[in-house]
Amino acid sequence: MRVLCPAKVNLHLAIGPRREDGYHQLATVFQAVGLWDILEAEPGGALELRCDDPALSCGDDNLVMRAARALQHRFDAGSLGARMVLRKAIPAGGGLGGGSSDAAGALVMLSRLWELDPSTEQLEDLAASLGSDVGFFLYGGTATGTGRGEKITPMPSIGERPIVLGFAPFPIATAEVYRRLAARRSGAPTSLTPPGFSVNLQGLLAKLVRENDFGPARNDLEEVVLDGWPELAEFRRELSEAGAVLALVSGSGSSVFGLFEGEGDAHAAAGELAKRFPRWRTVATRTVASGVRVEP
Ligand code: C5P
Repeated sequence: MRVLCPAKVNLHLAIGPRREDGYHQLATVFQAVGLWDILEAEPGGALELRCDDPALSCGDDNLVMRAARALQHRFDAGSLGARMVLRKAIPAGGGLGGGSSDAAGALVMLSRLWELDPSTEQLEDLAASLGSDVGFFLYGGTATGTGRGEKITPMPSIGERPIVLGFAPFPIATAEVYRRLAARRSGAPTSLTPPGFSVNLQGLLAKLVRENDFGPARNDLEEVVLDGWPELAEFRRELSEAGAVLALVSGSGSSVFGLFEGEGDAHAAAGELAKRFPRWRTVATRTVASGVRVEP
């Protein structure tokens, strides 16, 4: 069995105050993107994982292994094994949700492989226990995320739109970006909680989808990321200059994305950016309307 695990970008990411559990309250619009990790599994034996990216741990700290163990634990299924192989296309530490998508893929595929038949609520709970944005990948397409990002509401899809992704040649740790944001806000004379935090995400999305107006979309992590890693600011500016209707850092970085009106413009921009930023990986693809997809 195999499962295709897409990447995501945040078309909008508003960060509210820090909660008692240390996480930040957030209001975001997730969008699945056509860049896919592939996870394959055969039933039987022990639980094991191999991966084509030597930089990635395949041990119990890998999110795929954690998802598998959480599923075994929840369903008292410790005797069920699987030999898994993960082929990575989504860079780790890129803010594109690769690890989270793989975890969601593992939950859905192993449930089927082991014939566990979890309820939607059980799957959502397991996903939330693994990471803030794992739950999004159960649905994919276009969805809003609230709470610490784990409360997902699927929305009408923005469709398959051309998008350019730029992967910086270094990862950025999400926890570090949130730490810097918290430090910056606590040092400020007044609360920097953006006044637009309690934004009406539905209204924002209606603007994006119906009016094609990306003006109100923003990423509250950007200021910290662009200050700390200025190369991302350059890449983002070039995307805008190349005609992107929306150019933002994805999540906490280190990837930057640009949405385009036309396929031709997106490919031209990707070609130009690949020349200007030879150390970056630049990909032109499309947004997609699905989440993780199991194939027989
Ligand atoms: O939940 P996840 O593992 O994706 O989060 C990674 C890190 O990002 C957390 O440990 C936390 O420091 C930070 N974070 C946060 N508020 C959120 C989501 C993540 O502070 N809503």
